[in-house]
Amino acid sequence: MNTLERLDKIISTQTSYSRKEIKKLARMGDIQVNGGVCKNSDTKINPNTDIVTVCGEKISYQKYVYYMLNKPKGVLSASNDKNAVTVVDILPQELKRKNLFPAGRLDKDTTGLLIITDDGDFAHRMLSPSKKVYKHYIATLDKELDDTVKEKFENGIVLSDGTVCQKAFFEKLEPKKALVKICEGKFHQVKKMFLSCSYMVVDLERVQIGELKLDSNLHYGQARILSEKEKQAVFSVKNDQI
Ligand code: URA
Repeated sequence: MNTLERLDKIISTQTSYSRKEIKKLARMGDIQVNGGVCKNSDTKINPNTDIVTVCGEKISYQKYVYYMLNKPKGVLSASNDKNAVTVVDILPQELKRKNLFPAGRLDKDTTGLLIITDDGDFAHRMLSPSKKVYKHYIATLDKELDDTVKEKFENGIVLSDGTVCQKAFFEKLEPKKALVKICEGKFHQVKKMFLSCSYMVVDLERVQIGELKLDSNLHYGQARILSEKEKQAVFSVKNDQI
């Protein structure tokens, strides 16, 4: 691709510098393009071929980024918040850039796999129930599961407000633990589904999205870049899911 873009636009999307700061850095001679100092931040460059450095650091150009976070408890699934620490706040500095947001929300007390990106189309496709991207949760309940719950989940739970959920996958793992797979993302959905069967969810972890599994090497609060193959795994839909 040979599209030319403004230098300040490219640097501002790939870093956390504002355009004003970039202008100042350029004037001070801290920005180089292909080895030469560039004092005008509105210079047009080709982000795919031109080599840009800011204060000696090379800017690696990527249109969009995709991260996997093992979300800890107590952190809000949002980009920013006046009062609470968000999933974007806890990303390591080297992964931070503008316009990042969580693709779908996990409750504050839910842990596990969360994708953080700046690609709105990716998030939309991942979240749209019609794309059949199943989100896998392990739920721990307040009491032992009886045999009727599986059938209720598989037939489509009706929530207390009358909302009908799509058929869900259900597997009892332990007396008080189950694996649930859903492709919708209603507010507090898993908790409400169990509540309609008279169970309280005491712990909830998302372990998989589509065919993408939570990396077991990531501790709570750690994040890493998704590979191309992992990005595709999100959308590799298995027909026999339900
Ligand atoms: N369902 C819930 O109830 N909570 C979550 O965080 C995700 C799914």
